[in-house]
Amino acid sequence: MAKPEKHVFVCTHTRPSDDPKGSCSARGGQPVVDAFAGAFESRGLWGRFKLNTASCFGTCEQGPSVLVYPEGVLYQSVKPGDVATIIEGHLLGGEPVEALQAAKEVWG
Ligand code: FES
Repeated sequence: MAKPEKHVFVCTHTRPSDDPKGSCSARGGQPVVDAFAGAFESRGLWGRFKLNTASCFGTCEQGPSVLVYPEGVLYQSVKPGDVATIIEGHLLGGEPVEALQAAKEVWG
């Protein structure tokens, strides 16, 4: 297998519903995974990019969290509708999508 150009990790971590931090699972992590997978499939991008679910990154309050390597860019509060923007801007365009990135105080 060739090394992917970029590796997308989507947090799908789960916590009990009464946990004050909440979780990316409760905030919709799996639909974000599904949106990336669907777009990679329909656009023939699996050969360039790798997608994995992940456990907690520690930035739970504004999940779902998406981490893209090799840059180490963290996106927060990602919705399925944001996925095309991340793919176009960052994965294909090489420019991280500033409007969706975690604040520097959170990940910087
Ligand atoms: S639960 Fe997703 S970052 Fe913590």
